Amino acid sequence: MKKAVSLAVVGATGLVGRTMLRVLEEREIPLSDLSLFASPQSKGKTLVFRGKPHEIQTLEDGARAADYALFALRNRLAAEWVPQFRNAGTVVIDNSSYFRMHNGVPLVVPEVNEHALKHHSGLIANPNCTAAIASVALAPLHRAFRLSRLILSTYQSVSGTGQRALEELEKETANSTYPPQIYPRPVAFNLFPQIGDFNAAGLCVEEQKISEELQKILDAPELSVTVTTVRVPVRVGHSLSIFAEFEKDIALTEANELLRRAPGLVLMEGQEYATPLGCEGRDEVFAGRLRQVPRNQKALLLWVVGDNLRKGAATNAVQILEKLIEK
Ligand SMILES: NC(=O)c1ccc[n+]([C@@H]2O[C@H](COP(=O)([O-])OP(=O)(O)OC[C@H]3O[C@@H](n4cnc5c(N)ncnc54)[C@H](OP(=O)(O)O)[C@@H]3O)[C@@H](O)[C@H]2O)c1
Repeated sequence: MKKAVSLAVVGATGLVGRTMLRVLEEREIPLSDLSLFASPQSKGKTLVFRGKPHEIQTLEDGARAADYALFALRNRLAAEWVPQFRNAGTVVIDNSSYFRMHNGVPLVVPEVNEHALKHHSGLIANPNCTAAIASVALAPLHRAFRLSRLILSTYQSVSGTGQRALEELEKETANSTYPPQIYPRPVAFNLFPQIGDFNAAGLCVEEQKISEELQKILDAPELSVTVTTVRVPVRVGHSLSIFAEFEKDIALTEANELLRRAPGLVLMEGQEYATPLGCEGRDEVFAGRLRQVPRNQKALLLWVVGDNLRKGAATNAVQILEKLIEK
């Protein structure tokens, strides 16, 4: 039996925070105490957890000491507040991208690199939603055949940007002249190949994050990863079209068998494939349309979908917590 721990959920009212509370309930994580934090706007409001109302505190007012904290704040706030919880002896699992590439901070997807948890020093980073989803499908193939090159095109939902972006999608859908405030272009009835600002090399922030985070999670620093990230008018669920090339020749039957047995993955076989609507609310990653590349024995194509709020954020964070409690 797992021991009960005290837990802080920081950013509890946001899309990821609320999903973390749901996942904590579903997975029956034993808690001796739960404290919830959000912005001053939410101070004094309550969220119901396991049938009981819990009052929301601000970071300035609340005590920072708990055994563990699940953080779901924007980067700037995470940079300011994660160290304060760590200094109070709390082990933090952080959803922001701020610490992910820092040396000594494990970036963990439990199905892929649980071993990295052995070396944490009070902070574990939860990966980018798309990188986490992709890694679950790629890791079993990488272990068997060693990836040498990835070319990814992503189709990322609006909930990936948080609550206010979902509200923007609703408003644009109801009124085609509503001026976008969150995104650089209207997202309703549209899509655009830009997630975050562009750097001097022409990559947007999300493309860079997915490349470097996949290299870190898969422990493949030399892996060539090329990404084009596209925002699409889907509420929940990120999809990817993946071209994966390996060092060795790869047989489709063997790849199918590996994915059939892969933890956290559902393989859709034959003509089946997953859609974001079909994956919403599911913790697993879905892979389908697995096929060989013509005239290239070393490469495969596949279609991968996952719920960005679950495996891309909340479920993965709670799985990390489960692993830490078990240790
Ligand atoms: N959405 C995804 O699919 C996803 C996936 C992976 C990682 N992430 C990362 O997870 C983090 C949270 O994302 P989200 O989508 O949940 O965002 P969100 O829906 O916008 O929620 C943001 C949360 O931050 C809280 N907050 C804002 N200012 C605060 C302050 N001054 N003090 C304390 N709390 C404050 C908000 O509280 P109020 O409600 O009181 O304003 C809310 O609880 C981000 O770093 C994001 O990049 C998100």
